[in-house]
Amino acid sequence: MSNGPALRHYLQFSDFTADDYGYLFERAALIKKKFKAYERHQPLTDRTLAMIFEKASTRTRVSFEAGMYQLGGSVVHLTTGDSQLGRAEPIEDSAKVISRMVDLVMIRTYEQTKIESFAAHSRVPVINGLTNEFHPCQILADIFTYIEHRGSIKGRTVAWVGDGNNMANTWLQASEILGFKVHVSTPSGYEVDQSIAGIRSADSYRVFKDPMEACRGADLVTTDVWTSMGYEAENEARRAAFADWCVDEDMMRAAQPDALFMHCLPAHRGEEVQAEVIDGPQSVVWDEAENRMHAQKALMEYLLLGRQPD
Ligand code: CP
Ligand code: NVA
Repeated sequence: MSNGPALRHYLQFSDFTADDYGYLFERAALIKKKFKAYERHQPLTDRTLAMIFEKASTRTRVSFEAGMYQLGGSVVHLTTGDSQLGRAEPIEDSAKVISRMVDLVMIRTYEQTKIESFAAHSRVPVINGLTNEFHPCQILADIFTYIEHRGSIKGRTVAWVGDGNNMANTWLQASEILGFKVHVSTPSGYEVDQSIAGIRSADSYRVFKDPMEACRGADLVTTDVWTSMGYEAENEARRAAFADWCVDEDMMRAAQPDALFMHCLPAHRGEEVQAEVIDGPQSVVWDEAENRMHAQKALMEYLLLGRQPD
């Protein structure tokens, strides 16, 4: 449908280069500034985004839906429960049909292979709105937020405390592309797997048994729920295994004095993070959530129209 640049998907963080990200962070800042000034920015008039949710969402839905309307376009919202996706229509057939009617597709689903199959049969760009393996739109917003508060992330250290999950995998990819370090601490049995992250070397991350040691000297401390969507059956085992992986004030004290705290949300105070930390002065979680919208507006514009001169 679209007459834009060559077809590109955003299925994982490594689909873009450092140069792409340099452009996107600047563009997101401009788009955010215009939004705050109530200045119209509608390059996607008459374009349609289909959003397919096979898992729950608050931020991803609101940020993509509000963002697309602000860009002048419109959205179609599909879930497993109210579409043929939940009745076993092959993903390839769904991709062929949906991508003939819309300009862009965002999918939140389970296995990464599912979104890859959809993309392989789609005529339009496909964006990963979270899979079991990755959450690239979140890290796009998180790094944009870091830059807003502290400048370039290059050479900095990010401490990841918790599950070796989709967020952790995406941080690993980002560190390799953007030149920062990740200190990872997970309970045993929940480690990150370099082969899932698909990173080429182990140079950009270091594994720590003790979460306190991972936080020492970090510029950013971040965590996520102990049990991600789709893993609810493991809830009890995870509660026991993760008990010591709660970001507390002592961990924040071990980090740099000006360290930031981030959490993609939703959060469980008293589990992966103490209320004093997430609601404390170093936390930027509300900016992080808001920036999903600004960063994704830049992303949607980029996928459909390429680099813009103004
Ligand atoms: N952080 C995030 O993706 O939130 P939702 O699950 O609410 O979309
Ligand atoms: N790791 C979490 C992130 C939620 C936004 C999950 O996959 O459920």
